[in-house]
Amino acid sequence: MADPKSRPAFPKAQPTTEPKSPLEASPEPPLETSPETSLEPLEVDDTACFFDYDNGSSQASSTQSLSSSIKDHVYENGRKYHRKSTDEDNKYLLPSDETEFDRLDMTHHMSLVILDGELHKAPIKGDPHNVLDCGTGTGIWALDFGSIHPGSHVIGVDLAPNQPSWTYPNVVFQTDDLEKAWTYKKNHFDFIHSRMVASAIKDWSKYTKQMFDHAAPGAYVEISEHSMAHIYCDDGSVPEDSVFYAYGNNLSDALLTLGVDVRQFSGSFFKRHLEEAGFVDVQVFTYKVPWGSWPKGKKFKYLGAVCAEILKTGFEAYGLMAMTRLLNMPAEEAREICTGCYNTIIEGKQRGYGFQWHVIGRKPEAAAE
Ligand SMILES: C[S@@+](CC[C@H](N)C(=O)[O-])C[C@H]1O[C@@H](n2cnc3c(N)ncnc32)[C@H](O)[C@@H]1O
Repeated sequence: MADPKSRPAFPKAQPTTEPKSPLEASPEPPLETSPETSLEPLEVDDTACFFDYDNGSSQASSTQSLSSSIKDHVYENGRKYHRKSTDEDNKYLLPSDETEFDRLDMTHHMSLVILDGELHKAPIKGDPHNVLDCGTGTGIWALDFGSIHPGSHVIGVDLAPNQPSWTYPNVVFQTDDLEKAWTYKKNHFDFIHSRMVASAIKDWSKYTKQMFDHAAPGAYVEISEHSMAHIYCDDGSVPEDSVFYAYGNNLSDALLTLGVDVRQFSGSFFKRHLEEAGFVDVQVFTYKVPWGSWPKGKKFKYLGAVCAEILKTGFEAYGLMAMTRLLNMPAEEAREICTGCYNTIIEGKQRGYGFQWHVIGRKPEAAAE
């Protein structure tokens, strides 16, 4: 495997300067500059311990309600992966097992906490007729949206059929590859939602252009992504030789071999793509997500604890197959980096955080493809 030190590291995050509301700068002002610098620093709670929110239960509890209809898998390094995702050009390298489904559902919970219980930032009114959830995963967002909007017809599409076999009458799941030409009608969807698929999308211009072509005039699109490979820090507590950087650099290098450049990801990156595709009134909402319950404040503390729970298996979910298959790193070494990251979070001395971006845009009423 390549030595992380021999490659360009992520730029170190600047401490934030402008005080804004604690969780959100909405919408961000000048986006040509770094959007990440406009949030206020997270304050450290010196009395925090990792177990502030730990009720002793394990992340590995099984989610019985999820479908077990997955038929076609490969097993690597103790995790189960769907063939549809991994066999064809290493399309998507995260696992397809109960542990991963639990993690995705916990990530959905984290997004709800971030958005104060809302499913999106787009100003949706009433029940939009046709809704598309891109890379629906366990289908949890699509199902929640469908239940709140009984007048909407929601399609959740994913490479792998990992959704429940039961569903609400107004929610359907389909298996398809969003990187291929979309077969949906043009000018059709009244809301398109895409969350946490960035590690798998190689051509963002094509992806957002297809969103534009298939959105109805006046429809909203929302892209929600997170800074998956880089850690940010406001107080210098994450040292240069932190295992977090080893992880981030290896994961970024691995995905780069597939043509996915996660180092570029930022609110401005997704904004630019939506604008170039033709969307207007594009806005970026940026949130800090602490890695661990070290910050002051009930909401940040809770968010940090939820995030730590997600990262318990999250480092491995993103990193294990990517580093072993794409960088030829021995599995023990990859696992050691992932475990090292999680242990560092539990230790609580390195006070890092990531970003979550919600980027929304609207197709002009006059535009019809
Ligand atoms: C990290 S999961 C996120 C799931 C869901 N969006 C959520 O937020 O709960 C990413 C999902 O995108 C799917 N995916 C990745 N590449 C895809 C593609 N080219 N076409 C369709 N789905 C894809 C994966 O199979 C996986 O289920």
